[in-house]
Amino acid sequence: QPSADVEGALLAHLNANGEIPDSRSFASSLGVPHKDVEDVIKRLRAFHIIESTDITREAWVLTDEAKGYAAGGSPEVHLVAAIPPEGASRAALEEEFGDVFDIARKAAAKNKWIRFENDLVLRTVEDARDELQELLKRVENGEVVPDPRKELERRKLVTKEKTIWYSLKKGPEFVVKRKTLATNVTREHLKSGDWKDLEFKDYNYGAQGQPIAIGYSQPLLEVREAIQNIFLEMGFSEMPTNMYVESSFWNFDALFQPQQHPARDSHDTFFLKAPATTTQLPDDYLEKVNQVHQSGGYGSKGYGYDWKRDEAEKNLLRTHTTAVSARMLYKLAQEEHFAPKRYYSIDRVFRNEAVDRTHLAEFHQIEGLICDYGLTLGDLIGVLEDFFSRLGMSKLRFKPAYNPYTEPSMEIFGYHEDLKKWVEIGNSGMFRPEMLLPMGLPEGVNVIAWGLSLER
Ligand code: PHE
Repeated sequence: QPSADVEGALLAHLNANGEIPDSRSFASSLGVPHKDVEDVIKRLRAFHIIESTDITREAWVLTDEAKGYAAGGSPEVHLVAAIPPEGASRAALEEEFGDVFDIARKAAAKNKWIRFENDLVLRTVEDARDELQELLKRVENGEVVPDPRKELERRKLVTKEKTIWYSLKKGPEFVVKRKTLATNVTREHLKSGDWKDLEFKDYNYGAQGQPIAIGYSQPLLEVREAIQNIFLEMGFSEMPTNMYVESSFWNFDALFQPQQHPARDSHDTFFLKAPATTTQLPDDYLEKVNQVHQSGGYGSKGYGYDWKRDEAEKNLLRTHTTAVSARMLYKLAQEEHFAPKRYYSIDRVFRNEAVDRTHLAEFHQIEGLICDYGLTLGDLIGVLEDFFSRLGMSKLRFKPAYNPYTEPSMEIFGYHEDLKKWVEIGNSGMFRPEMLLPMGLPEGVNVIAWGLSLER
């Protein structure tokens, strides 16, 4: 029976009687498996056409073997049918029935349908009615079968299982006949004019739709944001990093980097052709920088060379964000009252390098600095440990290094737990008095700083 008929019968029954106390009895009255009724119940329930209450019972369920007999007949009846009037040899029947022969033989003998004469099997009935198959079908349909259930249990054809069936009544949307709503206007509807009479399913404006595969954040930007958040959590504020073009003065001279330093060679640095030089440099400060390079001061001997303004005026693409730090510290030194500061930046720098797997001519630098009275190398180490542990690197080592603008300087190594080795992760130091004092920062103010790369 097609499910449309089951649905029709169920709704008609409810319409006439108001309820169906037991879906299992209802299924057997229709002569359909309970499963078919259950499918219809679930569908109608979803539309509130009916309401159902679960009835949980232990019920007899056919084993796989029994399901086969219910569908194709019992082996004992097949055996009787296979024996001609004159009898058949036991060997031939064994051959034909295989494993099932013993089962069939025992049951047929018990029913007194067969007898044995030496090696010959004879049947004692014309034909056998398959009562077992009928019984199994009734159990399968969920009918309440009285005895001889014992026989079924003995032959292990049934097991007891928890099953659910339902009691039913009309729901708030009850109808005797369910309308089928059209979902699409088809070419056929248009051609035949059917569309005029069709009732269409409402649009579901609340449906979410398929997620669309659009953009995702770039991994580098994700790391950048994570680092930015760490700086903000630690109370740092961001430095303005919008000037990719910088003068040699701020990129090198202000940082006490001598004019003959190899990094200032065009092999390492991109110099600009137009405009090739800058005209805006703070003259007073420039003079102090000139002095400290040439002859020192502030307890320093200087480099003792002939400092040239032309060299300082050359424009370049900044090679490090420490140029920005220099500008910020100079600005800070011009304020009337010194206040301690924590600054950070994350932005692009440019180096004239051979491009390979891990090197491009531009990359992002991350830089942090703290300026305050009386800072020490211990403060620097403490801040670095805090900063890097927030990035998931808590095993650090420091190695003495050299930068023209810091003393002492330290390379930072982190232990990589997966690679099981120490990896260089940054550079750091305390800015030199030769850099800070010409700017005009008060004596006794120290600046601890560090830099690392976002992608390298
Ligand atoms: N400017 C250094 C570099 O480019 C990093 C650094 C910043 C070192 C601040 C010390 C202090 O590697």
